[in-house]
Amino acid sequence: MKFITVDTYEELSKIASEIIGEQVKAKPECVLGLATGSSPLGTYKNLVTACEAGELDFSGVTSVNLDEYVGLDGTNDQSYRYFMNTNLFTKINISLDKTHVPNGCADDLKAECARYDELIESLGGIDLQLLGIGLDGHIGFNEPDEVFIKETHQVSLDPSTIEANARFFASKDDVPTSAVTMGIGAIMQAKKVLLIANGAGKKEIMQKAFYGPITPLVPASVLQLHPDLTVIYAEK
Ligand code: F6R
Repeated sequence: MKFITVDTYEELSKIASEIIGEQVKAKPECVLGLATGSSPLGTYKNLVTACEAGELDFSGVTSVNLDEYVGLDGTNDQSYRYFMNTNLFTKINISLDKTHVPNGCADDLKAECARYDELIESLGGIDLQLLGIGLDGHIGFNEPDEVFIKETHQVSLDPSTIEANARFFASKDDVPTSAVTMGIGAIMQAKKVLLIANGAGKKEIMQKAFYGPITPLVPASVLQLHPDLTVIYAEK
């Protein structure tokens, strides 16, 4: 594991966008696993700037996102599809039909989960997976559990996750209570994993996840077993 500690969110975003940029340059047809939330916003901003400057070309890239809320379709401004389109996809030269987010409105969510795993497999897996981390140690929406769940699955969101994500909604009651998330299997099979986190509030969970025991009660701790993991933490 490469654990990089930096002082500021700007430094974190600079290093993260450089790592993703290097991946795209090294393999223009790569598969990027992407995350939503507040942590990657600076990284995405830098990627947009680099693309606008002609330094990065996303025309060959395929993306697979980690998760989506159940019941929100892509036109809902709280959905993760909407987040990705707004903050990244429509601002870079990626072709939208090569961007994938689980469909949280599928009639048959079990079938949707199976389809998502088949899709990732058909793409040959993920070259670089970007992750944030929840205050409870979740990655994607793999919440603390008795076991690590390998496959894409539907999950009930932990009360602490609903609480944390309420900041993006009009009220806590508007936060969906379940989501579809990529499982630990596809994340661990990604060739490279890049996890970013910032703020003093994440310090304790970062310690637990990367220097504590490996346990499904702290889902991110499984990443200690990944052969090519970079973690960037900005204290501010
Ligand atoms: C989002 C996701 C989540 C977030 C995590 C941290 O797609 O998969 O695991 O990365 O909840 O969120 P922020 O970055 O908002 O602190």
